[in-house]
Amino acid sequence: MLVVVTGVSGTGKTTLGMGLSQALGLPFLDADQFHPPANIEKMGRGEPLTDADRQPWLAALASKLLDIEKQGGAVLACSALKNTYRQQLQVSDQLRWIHLTGSRDLIWERMLARQNHYMKAGMLDSQLSIWEKPSSGKLIDISGTPAQVLEASLHYLTQQEMKMNMGVIGMGVMGKSLALNLAENGVSVSLYNRFVAGKEEGIAQKVLDENPEFAQTAAFEDLQAFVTSLATPRRILMMIPAGAAIDAQLDALIPLLGKDDLVIDGGNSFYLDSDRRVNRLKEVGMHFLPMGVSGGEEGARKGPSIMPGGNAEGYALVEDFLGRISAKDKDGKPCVTYVGPGGSGHFIKMVHNSIEYGEMQVLAELVHLLRFGFGCSAAQVSEIFSDWGKGELKSFLLEITADLLLFKEGGELLLDKILDQAGQKGTGAWSLTTALEYGIPYSPLAEAVNARGVSGEKAMRVAFSKTFQHEFQPVEGALETWLPKIKEAYALARIINHEVGFRLMKTVSDAKGWDLNFNEIARIWTNGCIIRSGLMERISANYADPISFFEMAGVKEQVISGRKNLAEIVGLALTKGFALPVMSAGINYLLGRITAESSASVIQAQRDYFGAHTYQRKDDSSGKFYHTQWTNS
Ligand code: 6PG
Repeated sequence: MLVVVTGVSGTGKTTLGMGLSQALGLPFLDADQFHPPANIEKMGRGEPLTDADRQPWLAALASKLLDIEKQGGAVLACSALKNTYRQQLQVSDQLRWIHLTGSRDLIWERMLARQNHYMKAGMLDSQLSIWEKPSSGKLIDISGTPAQVLEASLHYLTQQEMKMNMGVIGMGVMGKSLALNLAENGVSVSLYNRFVAGKEEGIAQKVLDENPEFAQTAAFEDLQAFVTSLATPRRILMMIPAGAAIDAQLDALIPLLGKDDLVIDGGNSFYLDSDRRVNRLKEVGMHFLPMGVSGGEEGARKGPSIMPGGNAEGYALVEDFLGRISAKDKDGKPCVTYVGPGGSGHFIKMVHNSIEYGEMQVLAELVHLLRFGFGCSAAQVSEIFSDWGKGELKSFLLEITADLLLFKEGGELLLDKILDQAGQKGTGAWSLTTALEYGIPYSPLAEAVNARGVSGEKAMRVAFSKTFQHEFQPVEGALETWLPKIKEAYALARIINHEVGFRLMKTVSDAKGWDLNFNEIARIWTNGCIIRSGLMERISANYADPISFFEMAGVKEQVISGRKNLAEIVGLALTKGFALPVMSAGINYLLGRITAESSASVIQAQRDYFGAHTYQRKDDSSGKFYHTQWTNS
């Protein structure tokens, strides 16, 4: 091991360097001994050295470090004030940096106390003025005792030498939370965040500094050093934004990795990109897991639902670790499963999010109707939702909505101060385009995406509300008489949202030959994820491939009993001026799906009338196509 202790004169490089040399059993080198006599004389006269003066000195040090590494290493004390000097000394991946820093007053005081040293205290300012913040290594504050500084340095070096079980790239909210979750569950982990001068500096180290209780962790800004720190086969989890950033990160990583190493993409990537990346890594003998992770920041930190797909051999390398960090279902089983090949893990996460959009929108529709149609206070709506949540309607989204309806800021409801324009990052819309591609009816969940789009047109909505004098009308009649119907309507709207999502998953799974296990998918969604609910538990227990989702035990009864109520509530709300895009699309979709004699005969007749597109007949089961001459002209 090569260790270089840096810092301006007076920071205690020699003291620490000698301490480290003793503790590590390595020889100690003092960089001052490598200055040519002219430099020593210059410094003795109190004159600062120039970059040109330092060149032969740095060259001599670099060559000495190269030689001594072959003999087992050394500890070098060297000012190395600028990053360019440090780069010149970085002769090996095995070289570790410890940078001593402290307040000017403290260093000054220590310098004045020193005897027989050729540096004068007045040189300190010139050294401090050229000192640059290091881009790698460990900064150690010298205000502690020499023993404390030595202990902190040894702790850092031990971490650096340990081979870590996993690496996490990207210290955003999700990356940081998953890394800490891994560390807490006994998985040693290397953290990496890129270095972007002035924007992203020392990010991974900051995570460690803020969480000192996790000893088996190390932080990096240098990708090569990060990769070197990992035990083989390496297991690397990328938690960075979906899209081009993933390909760019793979471009940088692949040349540094070896056969059988594993890379996981834990973000919300589009599943077809993930299909492509699984193949890309397979071609170079590596494993790739496109992996959905649900549960937001808290879930990632305390137990998310995890949806890995892709390379099954790669999954085996992390099955234990993922099981440790995931949420647990009601039987204590981890909410993680190998989903299937290719991009299937990201595919089901995409559909999960689409259902999430639908579930959120239905709740938003009901909050509005109850508050501004039925005149409920936010607290009353919260109470109604909490009450529903005690029974079979229990769900995480219902729970947080009940909660946010009570949140006050300065004595006023925060909700009413939040601009009514919903954001979106793409997964809902990707589900919709996928449904269109596969010809799957998707209107309820499509409406959740569209509703966010309409919400974005705030200025136009405000203008139109004046032009068309739109106002909500109060609903007549006691809330108590409506409430049971609203509850049933809500329950059915949710069933429809789930049916639509599961149908898309089943269709794509069949088309791609993925053979997805839907009981298992529902099981890993019973905890940790955003759409966890009592309904999901019923789906997990009762989903059966040969029957339709609507005929499933525990669902069929609600479809029968709830549909009049859903239609009635939607009808009522529409006449009172409320838009309920998901609930109304839901009842339309359901009625369409259970109507034996549909209006499509009219469409076929129209098509044949104007375009000779032909039609089939109910009284001819052969499937033959007919054309009629509809007019005499
Ligand atoms: C989850 C969430 C998570 C994220 C959504 C938000 O399951 O933990 O779905 O992935 O919160 O992607 O998506 P929008 O910004 O599109 O609402």
